[in-house]
Amino acid sequence: MTWNNILLEKDGPVAVLTINRPKVLNALNEETLTELGQAIEQLGNDSEVRVVILTGAGEKAFVAGADIAHMQKLTPLEARGFARLGQKTFSSIENLSKPVIAAINGFALGGGCELAMACDIRVASENAKLGQPEVGLGLIAGFGGTQRLTRLVNPGLAKEILFTADIYDAATAQRIGLVNHVVPAADLLSFCKKMAGRIAAKGPVAVQLTKEAINDGLEMDLEKAFVHEADLFGVVFSTTDRDEGIAAFLEKRKADFAGK
Ligand code: HXC
Repeated sequence: MTWNNILLEKDGPVAVLTINRPKVLNALNEETLTELGQAIEQLGNDSEVRVVILTGAGEKAFVAGADIAHMQKLTPLEARGFARLGQKTFSSIENLSKPVIAAINGFALGGGCELAMACDIRVASENAKLGQPEVGLGLIAGFGGTQRLTRLVNPGLAKEILFTADIYDAATAQRIGLVNHVVPAADLLSFCKKMAGRIAAKGPVAVQLTKEAINDGLEMDLEKAFVHEADLFGVVFSTTDRDEGIAAFLEKRKADFAGK
């Protein structure tokens, strides 16, 4: 499938998905969100792909937010639909059966920060700037930001970030737990690819079920989450990956996982 606003490149088990509207700093309009959702669905069905890296085209921005020009014309009902489209698309990333690493290569503002937060792991370049400037436009974060930011940092910090619309540099974003790593811009993609490669070499079903256990568990009380974890632990015993992983350890060799 080809898209107008999304690029998809595959390098063995690692796919790089690029939001490609550099003239508007990769701002998200309906078409881009729809294409992003299609690309995520395609990657979910692609058994060769084990890890996805999501980034933005150009050197300035990951995604500078929802497309402001597009939002100027929306009726309240259309705005609601736009928010739901973004939420559903971002949830499809969160629920994708493979890890998604956000390579934040510049501005990640508003919907861009919300997109990064829907990814499993966030790595920022030193020049990245993150924030939720929506209230400065008289809007609210509507692609899941009020919820994901609150879960990712803490409610007090999330409220400060959302109320003030302050923009944070990469070092501050790392200090508050919004990003895991900060690396020089020139090294961002190779850093993410190396991490993706390390994950891709592990048992794919085990990685998938670990993601599921973490995501589902966040919505459960602890005892139920433990039971869910034990259930999934049982499920991995139905995989050949478990046979291969344990045999490889005992035979002192590298495991070669089939993802089954
Ligand atoms: C549409 C955008 C855009 C956006 C930038 N552009 N951000 N277009 N939507 N979110 C466009 C600019 O209009 C400009 O187009 C071009 O990209 C380059 O941007 P400049 O502003 O000239 O660049 P610079 O001076 O370097 O400033 C960079 C910036 C600024 C600080 C990131 O562009 C900015 O503040 N952008 C908006 C950030 C923002 O408020 N995002 C949140 C949006 S609300 P031209 O044609 O002039 O070259 C949101 C809601 C999510 O995300 C929830 C929805 C339900």
